[in-house]
Amino acid sequence: MSSLPVTRPAADELKEVLLSEEQVRARVAELAADISRDYTGRDLVLVTVLRGGIFFLADLSRALTIPAALDFMAITSYTADSPSGVARLLKDLDEEITGRHVLLVEDIIDTGLTAAYLLRVLHTRNPASVAICTLLDKTARRIVPTLPIRYRGFEIPDAFVVGYGLDFRQQYRHLPYIAVLKEEPETSLSLPG
Ligand code: PRP
Repeated sequence: MSSLPVTRPAADELKEVLLSEEQVRARVAELAADISRDYTGRDLVLVTVLRGGIFFLADLSRALTIPAALDFMAITSYTADSPSGVARLLKDLDEEITGRHVLLVEDIIDTGLTAAYLLRVLHTRNPASVAICTLLDKTARRIVPTLPIRYRGFEIPDAFVVGYGLDFRQQYRHLPYIAVLKEEPETSLSLPG
């Protein structure tokens, strides 16, 4: 494990770097190459759910060699009252996606409930195709068994990770690497991490 560079705030809350900035950058470039190859000649829309996915989307989209539209959705996070997959759309797409190829870009898939909800919403608009690109895949906590994950950056262990878009109480999103928190916060289905 590499040492912990930077950081505001409280670097002493971080235990170790799980994926270095170099590892993340290299994998993002590989994923972008795969996506560029697979979607050549197709009308591609990259969709991310706010807020954590924006860092990955920004880097991934800039590494593509093909054109792609970007769009954003926002949903209510799952709460203790609704861990069973009931979510609400707070911000819808601006793009019309009917007949277009949609790639849902996520920083992490944990239980899979968020992605499953978003896929349901996206499919109602009759896109030409929908697939998922996730940087991190925490399969140990998966509840939704089948998700169309076409591109996966890294499978990671069941640890609370922050950085590169992932937060703990809205902090650490800015870190260019993925780190493990020292103290595991209370986690449940309501707090995907
Ligand atoms: C994170 C992440 C995914 C979701 C994955 O978002 O960006 O959207 O959790 O968890 P799941 O597979 O268990 O549904 P979060 O709800 O933490 O919101 P954020 O993007 O604003 O950090």
